[in-house]
Amino acid sequence: MERVHAGEPAEEFVLETDRLGLRRLTLDDVDGLLEIFSDPEAMRYYPSTKERAEAEGWIRWCMRGYERDGFGMWAMVRRSDRRFLGNCGPILQPVEGELVPEIGYHVVRAEWGHGYATEAALAARDWLFRETTWDRVVSIVDPANTASRRVAERVHSTMRMFEWERAAGRQLCLYETRRGDGPR
Ligand SMILES: CC(C)(COP(=O)(O)OP(=O)(O)OC[C@H]1O[C@@H](n2cnc3c(N)ncnc32)[C@H](O)[C@@H]1OP(=O)(O)O)[C@@H](O)C(=O)NCCC(=O)NCCS
Repeated sequence: MERVHAGEPAEEFVLETDRLGLRRLTLDDVDGLLEIFSDPEAMRYYPSTKERAEAEGWIRWCMRGYERDGFGMWAMVRRSDRRFLGNCGPILQPVEGELVPEIGYHVVRAEWGHGYATEAALAARDWLFRETTWDRVVSIVDPANTASRRVAERVHSTMRMFEWERAAGRQLCLYETRRGDGPR
């Protein structure tokens, strides 16, 4: 049973780890997400920071995933104090002409370096293989984004460079795990 502190509203988590809860994003999360999306340092490997309307559009993109696929990037919350930490989860992306679940992750800068992205991404990977029939999961990372690569190296089995159609054919790292790869 989900553990909830007295006086706090129950949150419906899709999955829980030791320290984290992952739940569906709602439009109420836009301020939390803007803490990341408006931060130039956090968005360093993206084309630009995002304004409120773009953050809302991004949440709607995740919500379409929940309805269509049963998953989409989720809100990441610290269970001890309900702090909104960011987002993590699988979402379908076109990769070399095929739709593939990609695990993405973003954490508010003040909370970097505590292993939250790794903890959430490992749990999302295991959730996907447990709860769906997808046989393949990837993470797409800018080669210069060392922190993200450190996370992806712990989550995935292989990495190769590829040209991503959504990034104007730029060379990016395609980290990948297939169902049954190694001990989980
Ligand atoms: C990538 C990101 C989610 C990692 O979140 P996090 O909770 O800090 O991740 P973790 O603590 O699980 O692991 C981060 C790893 O990167 C390393 N790291 C952090 N900052 C780094 C930096 N500037 N340079 C090199 N390595 C760095 C950490 O040391 C750690 O590796 P280690 O455990 O081997 O020491 C976070 O940096 C972020 O939100 N970045 C902006 C958004 C983004 O780029 N998302 C990924 C898109 S592909």
